[in-house]
Amino acid sequence: MCPQNSIVSTISLSTFDKVVIELGIGDGQLLEGLINYENSPNTCYVGIEIDAAQIQKASDRMTGKNIFLINESIEKVIPLLPDNFADQFIFVLPSPKYIDREMESQWTLLYQKIYKKLKEKGTLTLVTEVTNDLLEPVSNDEFRTWKTWLASIFVTFGFTLREVFNECPLHYRSHFLEQFMADQLRIKIITLILEKPHYKSI
Ligand SMILES: C[S@@+](CC[C@H](N)C(=O)[O-])C[C@H]1O[C@@H](n2cnc3c(N)ncnc32)[C@H](O)[C@@H]1O
Repeated sequence: MCPQNSIVSTISLSTFDKVVIELGIGDGQLLEGLINYENSPNTCYVGIEIDAAQIQKASDRMTGKNIFLINESIEKVIPLLPDNFADQFIFVLPSPKYIDREMESQWTLLYQKIYKKLKEKGTLTLVTEVTNDLLEPVSNDEFRTWKTWLASIFVTFGFTLREVFNECPLHYRSHFLEQFMADQLRIKIITLILEKPHYKSI
């Protein structure tokens, strides 16, 4: 595992073609699957997770010169990254404090920082879910309203919406995703691929 302050200099000085950062990686199942799927030794994969027991499991799963796992909060690590640094952030099933509508005022700053740390044309892949307040099946209306709200919020941060689909990417697998996907009437998942646009100089 990597100390948070050395990682930034290590990655900055290295010659990776791409930097992919997963936030809140849990036990690392998804990141491990992604690394195998992409088979890209010139991509640097960074996983950040606050829970020591979880990141230990992740560290037991994978090692490699291009894999950096950090046991720290995303709030502490993200500001340490240089601006225009990452090609992709991945945030799968963020805790409610990072995505719930009721807590919006608490999380907008985090995504604004993520935006700054992305390269132009870089993306944030956000996989998240909606449930009904009474834990009843989510109606089509509820789902549509939530989806429209979510996309519109990220557009206000400067992102453009490259893609949106009503499931998770097919090669993404994790314990939580499997649990959530087993209850598709009451837990509706979507994926937003949000892009930091390329600004043309005038
Ligand atoms: C619902 S789980 C999803 C885990 C993983 N993405 C998956 O799909 O299995 C949320 C994860 O975010 C982690 N987490 C919560 N707050 C965090 C923070 N401030 N910094 C880093 N990780 C955090 C939790 O410990 C937990 O592992």
